[in-house]
Amino acid sequence: MAIREIIILPDKQLRLVSKPIEKVTPEIRKLADDMFETMYDAPGIGLAAIQVAQPLRLITMDLAKKNDEGEVDSKPRVFINPEIISSSEETSVYEEGCLSIPEYYEEVERPAKVRIRFIDLDGKLHEENAEGIYATCIQHEIDHLNGVLFVDYLSKLKRDRVLKKFTKAAKRTEE
Ligand code: NI
Repeated sequence: MAIREIIILPDKQLRLVSKPIEKVTPEIRKLADDMFETMYDAPGIGLAAIQVAQPLRLITMDLAKKNDEGEVDSKPRVFINPEIISSSEETSVYEEGCLSIPEYYEEVERPAKVRIRFIDLDGKLHEENAEGIYATCIQHEIDHLNGVLFVDYLSKLKRDRVLKKFTKAAKRTEE
């Protein structure tokens, strides 16, 4: 496993539409392993392949929670070619962040429940319901596969402000 570099706003690759994965090859497994290592290191709860500059429809997620004994209950999950089949009219609001927009958090309103379809690393097809933080996280990550970022849901004023901040920071790094 290896930690890969996470691309940051305003990197244009974040706007790419990622391609479906035709077959789960050893390269795809390696990419998923690297994405977990990168995600845990960051640390974050979800990562889309495009965030490590691979425009493929692959997501890693771990909504680990600390249990009463303070131990982390780790649940690593991989979603290949995930799709939202249906969304609830009911919405919920969570404060979101993104490893490609570091240290920036804002509340986003999204459907509270979604039904998703995806394949796993064994190529097996799954359908399941997501709600709570899981629903928000999977929607956020699927957005990445379509070149959409959570800041796109904010007011133009807020979005322009964060874009400007990260564009300036990127210029400073270049100099
Ligand atoms: Ni993100």
